Amino acid sequence: MNIKKILVINGPNLNMLGNREPDIYGSTTLKEIEKRLSILAKELKIEVEFFQSNHEGAIIDKIQNSANNIFGIIINPAAFTHTSIAIRDALAANPVPTIEVHISNIYTREKFRHKSYIAEVTMGQITGLGIEGYLFAMKKLKSLKIQKFQK
Ligand code: DQA
Repeated sequence: MNIKKILVINGPNLNMLGNREPDIYGSTTLKEIEKRLSILAKELKIEVEFFQSNHEGAIIDKIQNSANNIFGIIINPAAFTHTSIAIRDALAANPVPTIEVHISNIYTREKFRHKSYIAEVTMGQITGLGIEGYLFAMKKLKSLKIQKFQK
């Protein structure tokens, strides 16, 4: 049986978390975020897969190729949030619920960060809650999976 997973996608420069502008993004590394998500996934009895890329096309390929193996997507598209119609289109074509996460609050920062091309094709956006945003998103996607199963 194919056990469906949550796919966690992190976009460009998020591999540098920990060193990258810690006053904005904190000191937690991406590995540590993934560790916390793995622990939560275990508690929730779900599977999780992690993917990080600095390349727009690689993120699009991942979204396209995983459609049959996942029940939800958590995505922090990083700077592609504000530029990528292509990632937006890939998500729009993928039927699973998606939650957009940002560590910082994109609406209290520079004007160019206020626009998300991604938000309109997601079920919701979590922004400015630090790394906990990823954990909240995972809990929400798990609760949706239960609802679907109960129907
Ligand atoms: C970010 C916000 C983006 O504007 C920025 O380009 C990032 C990280 C966040 O998590 O706060 O790389 O997505």
